[in-house]
Amino acid sequence: MTRFGRFDDEAREYVITRPDTPLPWINYLGSEGFFGIISNTAGGYTFFRDARLRRLTRYRYNAAPADTGGRFLYLRDAATGAFWSPSWQPVRAGLEDYRCRHGLGYTMIGSRTAGIETETLYFVPLGESLEIWRTTVTNRRADTARLSLFGAVEFCLWDAWDDQTNYQRNLSTGEVQVLDGVVYHTTEYRERRSHFAYFACSEEVSGFDTQREEFLGPYRGWDGPLAVEEGRSRNSIAHGWAPIASHQVELELAPNESREVVFLLGYAENPPDAKFDPPGSTTLDRRAVLPVIERYRQAEEVASAFERLRDRWAELLDVVQVTTPNEHVDRMVNAWTPYQCMATFNLSRSASSFDTGIGRGIGFRDSSQDLLGFVHMVPERARERILDLAATQLPTGGAYHQYQPLTKRGNDAIGSGFNDDPLWLVLAASAYVKETGDRAILDEPVPYDNEWGSEDPLYEHLRRALGYTLDRLGPHGLPLIGRADWNDCLNLNAFSEEPGESFQTVPNREGGVAESVFIAGQFAMAAEELAQLSDLLGKPEEAASARAERERMVAAVREHGWDGAWFRRAYDHMGGVVGSADNDEGQIWIEPQGICVMAGIGSDDGRAARALDSVADRLGTPHGLVLLDPPYSRYHLELGEISSYPPGYKENGGVFSHTNPWIAVADTMIGNPDRAFGHYLRINPSAREELSDVHRCEPYVYAQMIAGKAAPTHGEAKNSWLTGSAAWNLVAITQWILGIRPEHDGLRIDPCLPSGWDGFRAVRRFRGATYRIAITKPVGSTGRIMSMTVGDRRVDGNVVPPAPEGADVTIDGTIA
Ligand code: BGC
Ligand code: NOJ
Repeated sequence: MTRFGRFDDEAREYVITRPDTPLPWINYLGSEGFFGIISNTAGGYTFFRDARLRRLTRYRYNAAPADTGGRFLYLRDAATGAFWSPSWQPVRAGLEDYRCRHGLGYTMIGSRTAGIETETLYFVPLGESLEIWRTTVTNRRADTARLSLFGAVEFCLWDAWDDQTNYQRNLSTGEVQVLDGVVYHTTEYRERRSHFAYFACSEEVSGFDTQREEFLGPYRGWDGPLAVEEGRSRNSIAHGWAPIASHQVELELAPNESREVVFLLGYAENPPDAKFDPPGSTTLDRRAVLPVIERYRQAEEVASAFERLRDRWAELLDVVQVTTPNEHVDRMVNAWTPYQCMATFNLSRSASSFDTGIGRGIGFRDSSQDLLGFVHMVPERARERILDLAATQLPTGGAYHQYQPLTKRGNDAIGSGFNDDPLWLVLAASAYVKETGDRAILDEPVPYDNEWGSEDPLYEHLRRALGYTLDRLGPHGLPLIGRADWNDCLNLNAFSEEPGESFQTVPNREGGVAESVFIAGQFAMAAEELAQLSDLLGKPEEAASARAERERMVAAVREHGWDGAWFRRAYDHMGGVVGSADNDEGQIWIEPQGICVMAGIGSDDGRAARALDSVADRLGTPHGLVLLDPPYSRYHLELGEISSYPPGYKENGGVFSHTNPWIAVADTMIGNPDRAFGHYLRINPSAREELSDVHRCEPYVYAQMIAGKAAPTHGEAKNSWLTGSAAWNLVAITQWILGIRPEHDGLRIDPCLPSGWDGFRAVRRFRGATYRIAITKPVGSTGRIMSMTVGDRRVDGNVVPPAPEGADVTIDGTIA
C-alpha cells in the first residue's frame, strides 16, 4: 500500500511527502473573486471570477507530464551553475527533501537542495485580487551562498478558450508594460478592456523578462530556461507572441541566514474612461494599484493577511465540530468536506484538474444541491445564491440548466428542459429556511428569466417548480424526464447517431413520453418540503394541496415504479421499462432507491427495506455502491449517453460518489445504522488514503467517480473536487448518522449510530446560539434517542427549540 503523505489534523493540512503523486493533487486559493488552482508542485492557474473569461495565467491542457505550468520558481547556485525548482516541477531535479502542505485556502511547498532550504507559502489575502507567493530561502551550508531566485508566470490572453485556439490573432496582440520593476500584462488594454494583471516582487530585481522565448531560449521549455541556466535575464519586452513575467533576484546568504522574497500576481480594473496616466497617453494608470503592491511587499502585511485567512477558516468551520470514535469522520467533518463544499459553492463545476474552466457555468441542479453543504457556513451568500438561481427560472417554473457567473443570466447554449432542475431549488430554499429561520426570503420578489417587471415572491417560484412537474406527466402518471434528470447521461429522448453530438442538447424527439421514477421520488420529497413552507406562511390549503399531489405521485410510483425487489428507473420513449429485472442490462439503478426512500416512499409497506437490501446486494463493492448493474456492454440508442461509457465508468456502473450518501441517508431512515455507516465510510476519502495507489486522486476530497466493479481499474477515482458528493456526504454524516438536523422548529438530535460506537460529542452553532451535544450509548446498541436533557431540563422527543442568540446550550442524549 503506497501513501504519498499524511493528514496533520491539528493544522488542518494534508502533508504530501513526495512530489510524484499519481495525479497532481490540488488545492484552491481564494474565496471571493480571485481564485487559483494550485497543485502539489505549484502548477495550476489563476483567474478572476470567471475561469474562462478572465484567466490570468496560461495552462497546458492534457500536458505530458501533467501540470507543468503555473507558478514557476527557480534557484540557481552561482558557484556551480546548478539550478532547480524548489517545488520540483518544472525542472524535476535535485530535491533532497520535499513536502507540500495543502491547508485551508493556502499551500506551502518546502524543499532542500544542496544545503539550501526553501519554503513558499501561496495564498490569496481576504478581500484582495492578488495571489501571494512568499518564498523563504535559508542557507544551511557552512559558507556563504550566492543564489539567483527567479519567479515567473506565463500570461493567458484573458479568454482561455480563445487563447488556446485563435493563434492567428493572439500571436500578435500580446502587450506588457514594465514600470518601476513591476510587469503589467496589458494585452487588449489599449482597446476594449479596462483590466490588467501584474507581477511584482518585494525585492530590488536584477533583471526581468516578458517575452517567453527570450527567457526560455529557442527550442527550450520551462524545465530549462536559458536565462536561468546562464543566471542572466534578458530584460525583454513582449511584442506579441507569448507575454510572460519573470523577475530575477540576487541573494547572498551567510551560513544559516534566511531571506524572505514575496512575489505578487494581481488583477485590477480601472474605470473605462480613466485608463491612462497621463490621460491621452498609452501608459497604464497605476494609481489604484500601487498602494496595494506597496502593502504586500512588506513582510508584516503578508503575515497578518495570512493570519486573517486562517481565522476566517476557523470561524467557518466552527459551525460544526465533532469528536467521534472514528478519525475519518472527524477529519472529514471538521475540515475537509466543508472545505470542499466551499470550493463547490465558489466554483460550481468550472475549474479543477478535470473541469477545464472553459466549459460550464453555474449549474442550477448542481448549485442547489451544493447549497446543502455550505448553507450553515455562509447563510447570507446562500441566500443570494438561491435568489440568483430563482431568477433564471422561466415562467413555466422550469429553469435554465446553467447560468454564467459574470452576467448571472441563463445560458442559452445549454437551455432548459432538464426536468429535475426546478425541484432542487425547493430543497435548497427549505434547507436555507430550516438553517436560518429566515422566512422573509420566501417573500423576496424575484423575476423570471431575469426579466425586469416579472417579479414574483420566491415562494411562488417554488410553487411553480412543482407545477412544472405536474404539467408534464406521462402515460403512467410519472414525470416526463425531458433532456435528462439528475443523471445527465439518461437521455431518453435523444437517439443520437452522430459522433460528437451532445446528448444533452441535441433536439429531442417530438412528443416524448419518457418518464422518470427518479423525478417522481424527488417530487414527493419537494412537495413535503413545500408543504412545510406553506404551513410556515400560514397557508394551510396550499400545504394540503401539495400533500395531496404528493400522495398521487406516490401512488403512481407504487403502481408503475416498483419492480418487485427495487424501484424502477424510468420508462423510455417507446414505453419500455428501464431498470427492471426484465432488462438484460441496467436492471437496477441506485438513484430511484435513494430518492424514493428518502422521500418516505415504501416505509409503510416494506418496499423501502427491500429496495435497500437489493442495493447492498447488487450494487455493493469494496469501493462503494455502483450506479447500476449490470452495466451496459453495448450502445443503446434509446438510452442516450449512459451506454456510451465503457462498463464500470462514470454513470455506466461507476461508483458515483454523489449517490452513495443518498443510500446512507435512506438506510438511517429505515433504522439500519451499520449499513448506513458502511456506505459512508467506504467512499470517505481519508478512509481510502491507505489505497492511494489504487484510488490515485487526493485523499482529502471526494471524487465524482470511482471506477466500478466492471472496470479494469476498479477502485480508481476520477473528477475530484467539484462534485455534489461533498455536500451530500456532509449531509449524510452530520444530519442523518450523527443526526444533528436543522428543522423549522429547532434542532433535531436524532443520531443513528453504528453499533460499535459508544457515542460522540459535537458543537453546533445554530441561529446564533451554540449547542454542546454529548451522546452516550452502550456499545452494541442501535437504538435511538427518546429523551434528552437540555441545560437542566429533561425534554421528551428529540427536537431542541431555538435558543436565544448568544446562548450556550448543553444537550445530553442517551441512547438505550
Ligand atoms: C458527464 C456527466 C456530466 C454531463 C454534464 C456528461 O458527459 O458524464 O457526468 O454531468 O456530461 O453535461
Ligand atoms: C455531474 C453533473 O454536474 C450533475 O449535475 C449530474 O447530476 C451528475 N454528473 C450525474 O450525471
